[in-house]
Amino acid sequence: MKFMPSGREVRVEAGTTLLAAARKAELPIASACGENQLCSLCGLEILKGTGTLAPEPDSEAHIKELNRVDSELRLSCKLEVAGDLVVTAQYW
Ligand code: FES
Repeated sequence: MKFMPSGREVRVEAGTTLLAAARKAELPIASACGENQLCSLCGLEILKGTGTLAPEPDSEAHIKELNRVDSELRLSCKLEVAGDLVVTAQYW
């Protein structure tokens, strides 16, 4: 998977969370809830590869709405990687 705009690439096993993959790429990623899908700070934008991801559960959409997070972002702390992705964050 690839992280933009740095272009850093890492390989991770299927089932690895997107947050763990970002950390493997040594990119900072916000988290304030112990990776329990409560704070929405870990939201990342999927630029390519959305079709490889599980559909967003209602619970994820709900917590993003409560935290006023862009509905297009996916919460990386629970999102498992299943294929090639290109990802970015506003603060990278
Ligand atoms: S780390 Fe809090 S929602 Fe993902």
